[in-house]
Amino acid sequence: MKIEIKNQNETEEIAQRLAAIAQPGDVIALHGDLGVGKSVFSRAFIRAMTTPDEEVPSPTFTLVQIYETEACELYHFDMYRLDAPEDGLELGIEEAFGDGISLIEWPSKLGAYLPWDCLNIKISHNPADQNARHFEFSSQGRWIERLKEIALV
Ligand SMILES: Nc1ncnc2c1ncn2[C@@H]1O[C@H](COP(=O)(O)OP(=O)(O)OP(=O)(O)O)[C@@H](O)[C@H]1O
Ligand SMILES: [Mg+2]
Repeated sequence: MKIEIKNQNETEEIAQRLAAIAQPGDVIALHGDLGVGKSVFSRAFIRAMTTPDEEVPSPTFTLVQIYETEACELYHFDMYRLDAPEDGLELGIEEAFGDGISLIEWPSKLGAYLPWDCLNIKISHNPADQNARHFEFSSQGRWIERLKEIALV
């Protein structure tokens, strides 16, 4: 399930559409290189679920930032600096994955702690256009059906 997008606005729009259908227990794993747009996606998603002017600091050093939404708590993780997968437990991943909605940058750092039914979004650069991106969606869970319902794939 792949889509090509032209610019940052389109990345933000995809994030907003996903935020509109997000439910407690959802985990969205954002894969991709440095500077590809994981934080841009996360900021748009968080603002869509909170308020348009919500301050969204980078969790680079804290590793997690937590937001209140109407439905549940929204967790924004950046695992780049996680030393070992089990250190994720101290960040509250069990609570987050159970009852919250989770966005995870650098999800591979969690190893086997990444839930089997998460939505994987792999974002990649387009060498021919600095504002274009390639989005690839994959999941073992029911995500692909859900994405079809909102015409995302
Ligand atoms: N289509 C696009 N989608 C997202 N960001 C884009 C796009 N085109 C250009 N950009 C730019 O790419 C950069 C993405 O930065 P961002 O911090 O979101 O990356 P990141 O994947 O979170 O990196 P890191 O791994 O360092 O956390 C921003 O400067 C943004 O303006
Ligand atoms: Mg980032």
